[in-house]
Amino acid sequence: MTNTPLKLAVIIGSVRDGRFGPVVARWFVDQADRHGGFEVDLIDLADAELPIGLPAVSPMIEPNPPRPEGMLDLTARLTAADAFVIVTPDYNRSYPAALKSAIDWHFTQWDAKAIGFVGYSGASGGLLAIEHLRQIFNELNAHTVREYVSFPRYYLLFDAEGELREPEEPAAAAEAMLDRLHWWARALTAARSVPASA
Ligand SMILES: Cc1cc2nc3c(=O)[nH]c(=O)nc-3n(C[C@H](O)[C@H](O)[C@H](O)COP(=O)(O)O)c2cc1C
Repeated sequence: MTNTPLKLAVIIGSVRDGRFGPVVARWFVDQADRHGGFEVDLIDLADAELPIGLPAVSPMIEPNPPRPEGMLDLTARLTAADAFVIVTPDYNRSYPAALKSAIDWHFTQWDAKAIGFVGYSGASGGLLAIEHLRQIFNELNAHTVREYVSFPRYYLLFDAEGELREPEEPAAAAEAMLDRLHWWARALTAARSVPASA
């Protein structure tokens, strides 16, 4: 689609045994590869050590505290990304706790970056998680894009091989979201080189 590839980290937000998240994430990574505007890194939070206990000092004071050894790879990959797409289910009308932990252990890694969402779940299709995540990323000075992909009752939409029965509409939604994300990611990558006002 365009010039220099920006780095897009696609994050699998669920970590439980038997989760469906990786199927959705793999589908989305295919869409992102096809889009062509990004170099894609698929991050699985199940591979990271994510303690619920947070550092003693606030991120406003110490934005990069010592982190557990098992989190360092995650931190490096979040740092390298220009944009994120978070793949999330709804858990009790919100997003998984592992995702909150990954978010709260980081700070500068989200700052002035663009974020998109792919949601899936029962009736609510991940939208309740997505709307909560928008509030959180606002606090972290990230920009969440309005376009999204949602799979309500995903189990009716994907077949046993993990393929979408009717792929056209979700593919179009993914493309629209990736176009917008690319625009913001390019703009914000340029903006990050300008010192922030106090
Ligand atoms: C703890 C828990 C809470 C859930 N809450 C909701 C919910 O509020 N709304 C919904 O539509 N689905 C809900 N579900 C269904 C999940 O979205 C569905 O099981 C999905 O597969 C979870 O993603 P995962 O398989 O990647 O973990 C819930 C599932 C779990 C395990």
